[in-house]
Amino acid sequence: MNRHSLKCLSATVVALLFSVQASAEGRGQVSYKDDIQPILQIRCLECHQTGGDGLAYSGLDLSSYEGLMKGTKHGTVITPGDALSSNLNVLVEGRAGIRMPHNRRSLTKCEQEMLRNWVNQGAKNN
Ligand code: HEC
Repeated sequence: MNRHSLKCLSATVVALLFSVQASAEGRGQVSYKDDIQPILQIRCLECHQTGGDGLAYSGLDLSSYEGLMKGTKHGTVITPGDALSSNLNVLVEGRAGIRMPHNRRSLTKCEQEMLRNWVNQGAKNN
């Protein structure tokens, strides 16, 4: 098990253990550098960086925070604070006609939740 999935697993265990008390404090802060970038790197960069199909078709470059926030040639894919309407979350959660990662297995529930919490916390470069 790699470092990333360990963190994912321990976050789930902690969330379960503290779910009763957690409501007041909310979930822990999600970090772009520690939590989000590794997911994008492993699951998206294959296509969403220079030379990849995803970048060629949509213009979305996921190799940097700036690229992620810039979005596609049609516009942004993230509305900070609002994962419900952010296209990135819509796609990875399979709430639209197409799903990302394209033609690959879905992100785990934990990874989807990590992305959702990060966007809802303001999609910061933290
Ligand atoms: C196997 C290649 C591949 C992988 C892996 C992949 N994508 Fe894509 N992605 C594409 C292609 C191709 C398009 C263009 C689809 C189209 O325009 O029909 C695209 C388009 C997109 C779009 C824009 C859709 C729109 O409405 O314009 C988003 C957002 C996106 N991808 C996010 C992601 C995220 C996040 C990941 C990783 C979790 C990911 N993609 C992984 C190939 C991929």
